Parts: sequence; structure tokens; C-alpha cells
Amino acid sequence: MKILVTGGAGYIGSHTCIKLLEEGHEIIIVDDLSNANIEVLERIRELSQKDFAFYQVNICDFEAMDKIFGKHDIDGVIHFAGFKAVGESVAKPLEYYSNNITGTLSLCKAMLKHDVRRMIFSSSATVYKVGNTMPVDEEAPLGCTNPYGWTKLMIEQILNDVVVANPDWSVVLLRYFNPVGAHESGRIGEDPSGIPNNLFPYISQTALGRLEKLYVFGNDYDTHDGTGVRDYIHVQDLAQGHIDAANYAIKHTGAVAINLGTGNGYSVLDMVKAFEEINQVKVPYVIDARRPGDVATVYANASRAKKLLGWEAKKNLRDMCQDSWNWQKSNPNGYNKV
Ligand code: WQD
Repeated sequence: MKILVTGGAGYIGSHTCIKLLEEGHEIIIVDDLSNANIEVLERIRELSQKDFAFYQVNICDFEAMDKIFGKHDIDGVIHFAGFKAVGESVAKPLEYYSNNITGTLSLCKAMLKHDVRRMIFSSSATVYKVGNTMPVDEEAPLGCTNPYGWTKLMIEQILNDVVVANPDWSVVLLRYFNPVGAHESGRIGEDPSGIPNNLFPYISQTALGRLEKLYVFGNDYDTHDGTGVRDYIHVQDLAQGHIDAANYAIKHTGAVAINLGTGNGYSVLDMVKAFEEINQVKVPYVIDARRPGDVATVYANASRAKKLLGWEAKKNLRDMCQDSWNWQKSNPNGYNKV
């Protein structure tokens, strides 16, 4: 298939593009590089030994998207592009709604105009309401506590409504839990700009010495050791989930939400200890105050992915810690060679 990948130069997008190329698909990457480094494109070519079309375009630019769809006979879209920092979204709601929602509307318009009827959408477990019973399944109540999460939920609603109006469309809404890890080669990985918001890059940068110590946001939660429990999923498992979702979308119509998680929960201190033991490094930490908006425990019921896609996570905690550390120590400054 010929697949257009929005945000294909990003963390999950780049890992997915390599798998798509390895599976023999042709890809077109559209990315404005606002949160990605152009070096990633070279690494995708290096690791896949394949070439692809790239357009440095923001998907909000309908004219540019119209031209791209007119130039390529596209079979389907994997839609990653969007701002994704929870904290930043609280400070800049208008930028988040404008970029994430308008971008998706522009993309859907181009798809309708060029009769492209399949989309895999990068959604998130952040669409689930706080206080759900665990493990959380796709029928759990929805509701968000930050503009980033609301953009994901609003886009899910938009796509569900587009499918009602166009029943021959096929849309898979993939709800990721906590993506971590890197390609086993250590040549691509998570490269957040500035101080990392997420736990794993913060741990790996602390182990490297780029950061002095990890601040553990609270140890008084109702969990086995008081620290937050999450469902960490290896980015390579996540990438595979997109391949399986694309294959599902070819054979089905309609819209469906599917969790991509392992079904296992690990605490912050579980991850610190595992990272230290597996990689033989030290991760100094201090216990700090809770982070506003955090909940104690979140992990997935991943049975629908198994049933519908034949997908389940294969990578374990050791893979997550080893691959994260391999990427970080091989690329101390991420994609910036300085
Ligand atoms: C994990 C655990 C923190 C950093 C977020 C987004 C979600 C999704 C995944 C996009 C929590 C603790 C963290 C630190 C810490 N992203 N922590 N010190 O908050 O579960 O989910 O990323 O879709 O939308 O909300 O991930 O990695 O930030 O936190 O103690 O410096 O680590 O309290 O328990 P989170 P996270």
C-alpha cells in the first residue's frame, strides 16, 4: 500500500515508518519538523535501506495537502501529527486546539476530495476519565483534564462523525498507554526538546548525567510502593500495532477504538530500579510533591487489540530499559550532533 504518514519524523512516527518500509509499503512523510529533527529522515533511510517522499508541510495547509494527495495515489493515512505536551497544552490551549483540530480537519478534507478512505489515528489513553476501574477497556467513560487530551478526544469524535457520513471509510483509533524505548539499533529514539516531561527520557538523561537527579512526583499514592503506576509499552510494539491496524482497516469499514498497552502496570520506583539493574547505571532521585493532574494507577485491558488485530505486546521491561539506554548513550544529545 501507499501510506501517507503525518508526523512521520516524530518518535512513534519514525519507528512506524521503518516497519512500514520493512513490510514493503511505500510511504510519504508529511512533517513540519516543529517537534522533530530532519536527521531522523536519514536514519529511517539508513535503517530501512529504502527511500520515500518527504514534504516539510504543516497539515493545516490544505492547499499543500491537496497538492500532495493529487500527486500520489494514496491508499491510507497514519495520522501522528500534533502537539503533544500535556503541561504546555494547559498554558497554550488555543495553539493546541488550532494546530491539532484544524490540522485534522484539513487532512480529512483532502482525504474526502481524493477519495482516500482509511485512517489510523494516534490517540491516547489520556482520553479516559480519571477514576476508571483498572484495567481500563475501550468502553470506559471518556473525559479529559487538559487541552491536549481534549484535542485527542475531539478528533476521535470528528472521525466517528466522518465515518457516519461516509460509511465506506475505515478508521482505527489507537489509544496508546505510555510509549517508551527505542529501535534496537540505537539509531532512532525519543528526543524530547528541553527538559523531558515524561518519566523515561528523564531517567535516561539522569543516568547519562545530563540531568542531576530524578524528581519522583509523590510517593503517597495508593499503590504497592506509593509511586505512580503506568502501563509502559515499547515503541516497537506500538509501531507493530499500526501495521496490524492498517491491515485491519483494509478489510473492514467503520470506526473502532483500540487500546495499545501491555496490560501490566509498573511504578516509578519499579522503573528506576529496573533501569539501574539492567543497565548497571545509577539514577539518583528524590521524592518530590505530586504533579497536578496525575492519578495513582493506569493500565490497559488490551484484549480487543488481540481479538481484532491479532496484536499483543511482545517486548518486556528489560527490552524497554536496554533499548532506551542504548539510544541515549549512543546519542547523548539526541539528534543534535553537537
Ligand atoms: C509517568 C509516571 C509521573 C516524570 C503522559 C501523558 C499521556 C501520554 C503519556 C501522550 C507518573 C511520574 C514523571 C518525572 C515522575 N502522552 N514521573 N517524575 O503522565 O502517565 O502520561 O505521557 O499521549 O497523554 O499524560 O506519563 O511519563 O509523564 O509519567 O515521577 O520527572 O512517572 O508522576 O506517575 P503520564 P509520564
